[in-house]
Amino acid sequence: MRTMLAGHTARTETDFDSIAATALARCDMLAKCSDEPGQITRTFLSPAMERCNRLVQEWMRSAGMITSFDRVGNLRGYYAASSEDALRLIIGSHLDTVPNAGRYDGVLGVMLGIGLVEALAGRRCGFGIDVIGFSDEEGVRYGLPFIGSRAATGTLLAPHLARRDADGIAMYAALDAFQNAYPDVVDAGLDPRARAYLEFHIEQGPVLEHAGLALGVVETIAGQSRATVAFRGRAGHAGTTPMFLRRDALAAAAEWLTAVESAASSMPGLVATTGRISCEPDAANVIPGLVRCSLDVRHADDAIRRAAVEDFLRTADAIGNRREIEVERVVEYEQAAVRLDRTLVALADQVVSEVGVSPRHMTSGAGHDAMIMAACVPSVMFFLRSPGGISHHPDEAVYAEDVAMALRAGIRFLERFEAHLDQLSESERKSCTT
Ligand code: GLV
Ligand code: MN
Ligand code: MN
Repeated sequence: MRTMLAGHTARTETDFDSIAATALARCDMLAKCSDEPGQITRTFLSPAMERCNRLVQEWMRSAGMITSFDRVGNLRGYYAASSEDALRLIIGSHLDTVPNAGRYDGVLGVMLGIGLVEALAGRRCGFGIDVIGFSDEEGVRYGLPFIGSRAATGTLLAPHLARRDADGIAMYAALDAFQNAYPDVVDAGLDPRARAYLEFHIEQGPVLEHAGLALGVVETIAGQSRATVAFRGRAGHAGTTPMFLRRDALAAAAEWLTAVESAASSMPGLVATTGRISCEPDAANVIPGLVRCSLDVRHADDAIRRAAVEDFLRTADAIGNRREIEVERVVEYEQAAVRLDRTLVALADQVVSEVGVSPRHMTSGAGHDAMIMAACVPSVMFFLRSPGGISHHPDEAVYAEDVAMALRAGIRFLERFEAHLDQLSESERKSCTT
């Protein structure tokens, strides 16, 4: 197997600038594919996702890729190698969004995968390239993140498929409808020739900007726990019930939220968030009877994260006991921290230096498809600087120069990748192939 990439570094700066401009223009076009007018909201298997997929599929095809959809709606574009049966590099990220999102989270990584294939300008590598646009990473529709990469790695399980969305539609029913509409779907598992996974993503935080760096190399992705904590008190009349006779579920939840905030603030690297809260009966003149709070806890050290979750749940119990409020808590999801592949991280460091950026190793507080893929194939991520550190917000941005820089680093990564194929372990990934 011999690389066909020699001479790529001779490509002009203008090429990368114009491919970067195209990638950004495509992010703008995809921003128009939304389930909610006036904002960017695109959830798993929604009509907006379908429109987005059709555009991305067209761009993949015009870049010379053979496209397919798999059983969970992941869009795959394959750019063939210089020889048949060659090993494969996967470049991916997600195409779904949070509600009222920015336009780059996930999407830019897929556009950069296509951009790298375009930068090859028809030349073939000694390995095939699979660009994947994952159908769900954010977990908005089913409260379960990483549906796309879970399916790719064989970890989307029966209890996941039974989950229901806000309209009561079970995931298996949504998938049946999708598969009926797309009868050519392929299996979602990884091709046995896949040897590595590469993901480009905006940083979504302020570290690179603060350091004056366009790119960073992700070394670790923090683990996450998600839970629901419900406070069940007693609804009652807001005008007639004296304060000392109330069992106000929202007041109990409020006490808990501030306790969690202050405990998390005192532990370096720990973040804890309640981003969703529901209150029943939700009327101005009724004492809240039932409040449900989401809880999202993250830390790079799993033992610290687990201990923090235990502590937060015990605090909820103690507050409930004191206030005569019943507390129900369910830990719904735990994802261990992931260390990305050392060989690929070293390769990423090398190419980042080659394009003139001093290598900076990062811990990602955000979850990424790479943390799921890493269980099956050696994985690595590049971060692009996020202006203002803003993400999961319509003001999310990226600099065109940084996108061009990511393409320059990416093409060098492709040039050097083949030499590393033999060093990348096969042992773990075997159980993840179809
Ligand atoms: C994904 O964006 C997450 O980290 O929640
Ligand atoms: Mn996100
Ligand atoms: Mn993302």
